[in-house]
Amino acid sequence: MTKPMQSTPQQKRVLSGMRPTGKLHLGNYMGALYNWVRLQRDYECYFFIADWHALTTDYADTSCVKKNILDVALDWLGAGLEPERSTLFVQSWVPQHAELHLLFSMITPLGWLERVPSYKEQQQQIGDVAAGGKDLSTYGFLGYPLLQSADILIYQADMVPVGQDQVAHVELTREVARRFNNFYPAEPLILPEPQALLTPAPKLPGTDGRKMSKSYGNTIELAAPEPVIRQKLKTMVTDPARIRRSDPGNPDICPVFDLHKIFSSSETQQKVREGCTTAAIGCIECKGWLADGIVAELAPIQERRRAFENSPDHVWEILREGSAKARTRADQTMQQVRDAMHLPQIETSPAGAAL
Ligand code: TRP
Ligand code: SF4
Repeated sequence: MTKPMQSTPQQKRVLSGMRPTGKLHLGNYMGALYNWVRLQRDYECYFFIADWHALTTDYADTSCVKKNILDVALDWLGAGLEPERSTLFVQSWVPQHAELHLLFSMITPLGWLERVPSYKEQQQQIGDVAAGGKDLSTYGFLGYPLLQSADILIYQADMVPVGQDQVAHVELTREVARRFNNFYPAEPLILPEPQALLTPAPKLPGTDGRKMSKSYGNTIELAAPEPVIRQKLKTMVTDPARIRRSDPGNPDICPVFDLHKIFSSSETQQKVREGCTTAAIGCIECKGWLADGIVAELAPIQERRRAFENSPDHVWEILREGSAKARTRADQTMQQVRDAMHLPQIETSPAGAAL
């Protein structure tokens, strides 16, 4: 059977994005990319690098934006996103997102944005200037979820694969769509309400046992070389009650075992459970087996990544082509939006528009 290269009209549309904050880690992979790669087989997919969203917090130092975009694209291509199946693009190369964001800003009550839980949380976590944090009392930061709404609605997306932390943003997107459709009714509705597609992400601990996250410095990167992976796992926390080699351990409270559940075969998991609870194996041995599993999972990803690393121009070309496709699709929606709002179209003469 030949693989479908072109999406069919009745295919549902999927859209998601990632901020370019550097190389992706195993948590990003299992939490998002792994699912995206599977979604692209069955849906018309748009995946984009949200460089404007990165600026909402990192506006003071923008020196790494281009490098980070390339790094994310390399991880995506390595993980198996295929430009023949998915439209892969850069947000700032599709300025229509900004146009729709601006129009949304006219109709969105401030209270809706102030109420989004991530707004106050993030301000508390990283927005304390006195404590060396960033000044997040900006217009752009408040508008973060509204820009996200524009990202989603401009493709008239049906589904948005996201983690639990983004559900409130998709909910706001639905409210904005509803308000827009109310003010500017059309048949069929111009901005259908998208669904959040909650990705069934397994709990993925970092080397310190907390959730794997760049801000904790406990990550294992997708592109990490084998010795780095092995070294990081060596320092990973285990069942704290297992102090001596002769103490039996409890895999059910050990973060190393949580990773075994994702990256090791059921035989290996069984072997670990046996050996750990009877003190027949040591943690070093156990972590070695885990490293084997992770290295094996990442090998094809890293091999593909390396091939693209050697031709960065090709990667930028993929993003340029994807962005051109995205612009065409986004333009289609913007024409409907301008019509519904009785705004003059850009391409046709305003004089021809009914006053
Ligand atoms: N806010 C998302 C995140 O931090 C990134 C993002 C921006 C996004 N625009 C989007 C995700 C649109 C889904 C759809 O992960
Ligand atoms: Fe954890 Fe493995 Fe050590 Fe048991 S043997 S405590 S599962 S690292």
